Amino acid sequence: MERTLVLLKPDAVRRGLVGHVLSRFEAKGLGIVAMELRTITGDQADAHYAEHVERDFYPPLREFATSGPLVALVLEGDEAIAVVRALNGATDGRQAAPGTIRGDLSLSNRENLVHASDSAESAEREIALWFPDL
Ligand code: PPS
Repeated sequence: MERTLVLLKPDAVRRGLVGHVLSRFEAKGLGIVAMELRTITGDQADAHYAEHVERDFYPPLREFATSGPLVALVLEGDEAIAVVRALNGATDGRQAAPGTIRGDLSLSNRENLVHASDSAESAEREIALWFPDL
């Protein structure tokens, strides 16, 4: 069993897609280990996106990540990290394959509904950051 950190970003909450996206993860067979609605500060966004803070795209991403409540959760399952990334689809919703969450529901590389850890190392770091009691 593997665990991964997922964010249902502020656009998912604003668009009323939290239940739909969660259903897709649950229907796949992934288990919810922890989940919480949170509105994060700029400092918390910087900690989460530490590897991107110097990138050109980071200021709008920071603005977006702090623009309203998001849902943070930890999902668990066999090869959960890769499975969730596959369910999410490519970063840019315009290029993501139909059948994926972003491919079906997003037209943007910023407002792309979901974040998921991209490796075992990032999952460990992100779970500790968001859910230190786990
Ligand atoms: S990279 O270059 O592969 O490391 O980055 P990538 O995985 O494509 O994107 C990392 C996160 O940055 C977001 N992103 C953007 N946000 C705002 N504006 C622009 N132009 C933009 N481009 C990429 C992207 O949605 C990723 O967010 P997370 O939450 O990690 O999925």
